[in-house]
Amino acid sequence: MKNPDRKAWLLGGDALCSNPPDPPPGPSWRLVLLGAPGVGKGTQAELLCERLGACHLSTGDILRNAKCEGTRKLTPALEAALSSMRQGALVSDETMLELVGERGRCLRCCGGFVLDGFPRTVAQAEALDALLKREGVGLDLVFDYELPTKEIVARLSGRRLCPECKAVYHLTHQPPEKAGICDVCGGRLIRREDDRPETILTRMRVYEENTRPLLEWYGRQGLLVRVPAHGTPDEIYARGWTCGRSMENGRTPPSGKAGRGSTAGGAALAPPARPS
Ligand code: AP5
Repeated sequence: MKNPDRKAWLLGGDALCSNPPDPPPGPSWRLVLLGAPGVGKGTQAELLCERLGACHLSTGDILRNAKCEGTRKLTPALEAALSSMRQGALVSDETMLELVGERGRCLRCCGGFVLDGFPRTVAQAEALDALLKREGVGLDLVFDYELPTKEIVARLSGRRLCPECKAVYHLTHQPPEKAGICDVCGGRLIRREDDRPETILTRMRVYEENTRPLLEWYGRQGLLVRVPAHGTPDEIYARGWTCGRSMENGRTPPSGKAGRGSTAGGAALAPPARPS
């Protein structure tokens, strides 16, 4: 499936995507990804979007993109947001809700969406519920990826990012073909400012205090799928749908999509079947 350019999400305002997704043959998927910093949410979001035809809505990418967009003057709120980000702290709910609120139409994207990095607090989850209601759509599933801290730190320490196209690499697990150069666009890879060891620890603490309560929040709504995040990205992708399938024992997910998810092993690359 083609990769949407995400201009409407990254730039906000009146920006339009130049290659919006094609309407999928069946209903689109609307997912939220939770998990500690560096657990692999962005990597899974890319796989999910590629295979489901959905759009990757990352709030971290909005902020990093604002920094890269040298032509536009940053507002004081965005300056403060980037400073919080550098320190590993959360950006204020007020700023995040303004950024996401003005991009509300992306929640109606015909390809569906994978929200990565939002919501991160209970106040943001409440606001998202209201926003989804306003846009007339609902969530299908919330995947929570879990991994021991030691492994997460190893993933973050080796991460490299393309500032141009946002592709993510890892020095040993997912190296680019040519060292330091993006396979997709030829950009020069960088290390994220918030991937320094001391900032990583702050981010982990902030996650425990502010974001972990969302597991209970979405658990109560019957949307939460807990996914052990060890193994290769493909294995984790397949495991997500397998874990989602077990939800049928409790509550049938909206439109019953999870129950028809792919299983581990040979079906790892296949997206879940869509209801006819
Ligand atoms: P954000 O950009 O959302 O970052 P994060 O949640 O901290 O998550 P990361 O992007 O660091 O990691 P990831 O889980 O996506 O892992 P990845 O796939 O890259 O937010 C950054 C900051 O912005 C926040 O700290 C905050 O300041 C601010 N912010 C954003 N949203 C906000 C909000 N809603 N409210 C307030 N503040 C907000 O993988 C990591 C590495 O591991 C990569 O190198 C990858 O190649 C590798 N890898 C992935 N999967 C595997 C695997 N299976 N095996 C081996 N290696 C793997």
